[in-house]
Amino acid sequence: MNRLEAVLGRLIAEEGPLPIDRYMGLCLGHPQFGYYMTRDPLGEKGDFLTAPEVSQVFGELIGVWCAAVWASMGRPRHINLVELGPGRGTLMADVRRAIGQTAPALAQALSIHLVETSPVLRAAQRERLDGVVEWHASLADVPDGPMLCLANEFFDAIPVRQIERRGGRWHERVVGLTDSGLTLGLGLEVEQPGGEEGDVAELSPAREEIARSLGRRLAGHGGAALIIDYGHLGAGPGDTLQAMRGHRFVPVTHAPGESDLTAHVDFAALGRALAAGGAVVRPALTQRQFLLAMGLETRFSRLAAGADAAAAAQLARQQARLAEEAQMGNLFKVLAATMPTLPTPYPFGP
Ligand SMILES: C[S@@+](CC[C@H](N)C(=O)[O-])C[C@H]1O[C@@H](n2cnc3c(N)ncnc32)[C@H](O)[C@@H]1O
Repeated sequence: MNRLEAVLGRLIAEEGPLPIDRYMGLCLGHPQFGYYMTRDPLGEKGDFLTAPEVSQVFGELIGVWCAAVWASMGRPRHINLVELGPGRGTLMADVRRAIGQTAPALAQALSIHLVETSPVLRAAQRERLDGVVEWHASLADVPDGPMLCLANEFFDAIPVRQIERRGGRWHERVVGLTDSGLTLGLGLEVEQPGGEEGDVAELSPAREEIARSLGRRLAGHGGAALIIDYGHLGAGPGDTLQAMRGHRFVPVTHAPGESDLTAHVDFAALGRALAAGGAVVRPALTQRQFLLAMGLETRFSRLAAGADAAAAAQLARQQARLAEEAQMGNLFKVLAATMPTLPTPYPFGP
């Protein structure tokens, strides 16, 4: 039994079984033993690889997107470049470099704000992003003003509730403690319309609260947000909670705090919450559609032009990883939300 399991065991003994969102929140964010509080999990040697860690091209194309949006806003003289859950700071470093090269006036106008709860990852970000960067524990702490907001694989780490339909009624899914350790089970009945016997649905008030407040900021202060994550656009696919350790799936109750716990993002629900906050939400694209439209192939060919055979083969693997349908290309979606007066940003519309 690890130390977080002991903490959870005591909590369950005192309060009863924990709803999935509470369990997920503690596994990832417990101040002492939470997954993100104790480690840098990214990279080949870690538990998972994200798009910015696959290739610099991902962040460079997003930097170009930011520059175009800023221009369409009328080039405000001051703008906050905000990232939610910046990991090692790789995406922001690549975005910042691309902005410096393609839009020096934007480089002068922006101040960088990172919303990050992990002390370990804040240290990694500090190393990569020298100069003036401010850190915040939540979006609410970011100073007011127009912003460009980026979030890559952030919302999948924000807890979800799960409910399951049994005996003609919906019940909260919970984590309890039995002789064989932490065990999934069903808790109290909840009110929810529809569904068939055995259905599982995921709801995330925590994600929606963040999206609503992002929408309020975009409507109130101006700007745009680009949200990239794995998830679905339509009706929920049921149970998507997954634990990953060393690039392999493990049971979600196994060694809590030692594996990454995520759930797919419901982009329809996220879009509704952004819109409820006052933002305009454009229909989401797949990561493949977004990156190809932003010039992925041209950028990779330029890099490959000066490369030897081994480096060119590696670049080809990276490009495929980001955009091939069977790799990250289709599973990952890209959603843009903007202030209501902004023209639809390319490539989300004509
Ligand atoms: C899967 S990593 C993604 C990292 C990075 N965006 C990338 O693409 O490489 C999730 C990030 O969100 C951060 N995070 C998780 N929960 C958070 C929360 N509630 N508030 C702020 N950051 C959070 C983690 O510490 C980590 O930096």
